[in-house]
Amino acid sequence: MNLENLIASLKLAFSQQLEKADTLEKLEAVRVEFLSRKGKLPEILGSIKTLSPEDKREFGPKLNALKQELEKAFIDKKDNLERQTLETVKKQLQYFDVTAYNADQLFGSLHPYTYLIRHIENIFISMGFAVADTPEVETEFCNFEALNIPDDHPARDMHDTFWLTLPGMLMRTHTSTAQNRIMKQQKPPIAVVSPGRVYRYEAVDASHDFAFMQVESFFIDKNVNMGNLLALIKTLLQAIFEKTDLNIRVRPSYFPFVEPGVEVDMTCPFCTTGCGVCSQSRWIEIGGAGLIHPNVLRLGGIDPEQYSGCAFGFGLTRLAMLKYGINDIRLLRSLKVDFLKQF
Ligand code: DAH
Repeated sequence: MNLENLIASLKLAFSQQLEKADTLEKLEAVRVEFLSRKGKLPEILGSIKTLSPEDKREFGPKLNALKQELEKAFIDKKDNLERQTLETVKKQLQYFDVTAYNADQLFGSLHPYTYLIRHIENIFISMGFAVADTPEVETEFCNFEALNIPDDHPARDMHDTFWLTLPGMLMRTHTSTAQNRIMKQQKPPIAVVSPGRVYRYEAVDASHDFAFMQVESFFIDKNVNMGNLLALIKTLLQAIFEKTDLNIRVRPSYFPFVEPGVEVDMTCPFCTTGCGVCSQSRWIEIGGAGLIHPNVLRLGGIDPEQYSGCAFGFGLTRLAMLKYGINDIRLLRSLKVDFLKQF
């Protein structure tokens, strides 16, 4: 076969193979077969050495043109394939669903406290209350004095306090601290709910923790009375436990910051005749409440001759344990995934 024919048949074979290569791998195989150091193109180019001077003059430019043609065709094809691959990937990613179900996925969930706090806040917001967040690191003044508990008051013994090394500072022992802070910031009418963490220096067991949650709420306006307080409490408890026949009862009690002061019980939401949750008594203790003491109003800059207020403070931890059937308080701060997964 003469060189002319060899060039023609190489071109044909190359363009046919190139045409068929529809992936980058197949294209690479074409490159190896034709263009690599031991491929068919260098082989034919090498044959120039065996030619006569006239033939060299004739075929030199032809072989050069062949080399350039093949290499250009190869590069064009490669560019094309790469662009196509990119387009395909782009198209696939366009419909890539990052939220698609994956059976092995570990789903996050909200902490039971979060659910309950949101629920309580929504109930109060629907009644026109504002939500207040006040500090856990508190002054002795807000935690005690402002709540009518002076230094020598025996009620301080009930609050096993974590004192800080900073003088006059402590970890708040109850959320009633919100009272003085808010009174100083706002003018009546004031309607506030303030859930949050409190601290008591206590030994930890299944029903006691040194850090737990309370929810405080108070309402100050002209002529606020016990009826307002009881209606608020009943509305809240009925909404939390989703029971319209849930009842409350109050027993006289003493808290220095309210007068009169009461302790609030609710009917057991889990039984009608007595069960383990209510220790067969049908009643469950929820927290304290009362009409805000005139001294407390005065210390908050509010004239007790003009205004009166009611307040209550409930154990949010206790409510969460009751609502979700949690039998060990320690689980609430445990960060155990198996526990949290259930909510
Ligand atoms: N702060 C009290 C406590 O932690 C609970 C309490 C009782 C709050 C009576 C009140 C109240 O607002 O009126 O023991």
